[in-house]
Amino acid sequence: MVELGVNIDHVATVRQARRTVEPDPVAAAVLAELGGADSITVHLREDRRHIQDRDVMLLAQTIRTKLNFELSCAPQIVSIACEIYPAQATLVPEKREEVTTEGGLDLRPKSDVLRRAIDALHQKNISVSLFIDPDLEQVDIAKELGVHAVELHTGSYAEARGAEQLRELQRLEHAAQRTLDLGLKLHAGHGLTYQNVRPVAAIPGMRELNIGHSIISRAVLVGMVEAVREMKRLMHV
Ligand code: PXP
Repeated sequence: MVELGVNIDHVATVRQARRTVEPDPVAAAVLAELGGADSITVHLREDRRHIQDRDVMLLAQTIRTKLNFELSCAPQIVSIACEIYPAQATLVPEKREEVTTEGGLDLRPKSDVLRRAIDALHQKNISVSLFIDPDLEQVDIAKELGVHAVELHTGSYAEARGAEQLRELQRLEHAAQRTLDLGLKLHAGHGLTYQNVRPVAAIPGMRELNIGHSIISRAVLVGMVEAVREMKRLMHV
């Protein structure tokens, strides 16, 4: 069965818009677990634009499923991950100007920073996944780097339409097959929605999908009627 990792970063985005205490991503994580989330994913960005250090500390103590900690290779963030000791660390590229993670990690330079991040996490027995584009060469290098999983970036598939989307799906399928052939665990995510998730979930060997924006967007809308009703009840007592 494919597992669902619910990315709750955007609950924190709403909170940070007012620099207040609500909505609390920790409460959102507990509710996501009640809904059947198999893991909770958060990205502690260097600029702390959404998730804060306090969130990851509390999540690590609170959630009953698995914490998937997304992070860049920045040494300060890697040390926080080592302290928090999540079930899984997913290394992602990070640029300050981007709205969201734009592409996969380019593993080709096999940089010392990347190797050091993987080593530090492995020394703490934290499983490492690398977020990469669906590219055979990237999968091969991930294997050389000794990680246990790759997360294939589904952004191009999500953005494409018609025949191009089919081509992007085939790219994902080829990279997925190579991942399995090399004995790595297969994850995917980014830009997945209620409309486009099925073909990706159906890729043979898929273990984990990490989905954030679409689920948080839907949660806001399905909760709207009740939230307004509650406020009106208070106003009219
Ligand atoms: N996987 C990774 C590695 C990501 O960086 C993100 C976005 O933070 C996601 C999955 C979730 O993407 P989305 O919010 O578009 O579902």
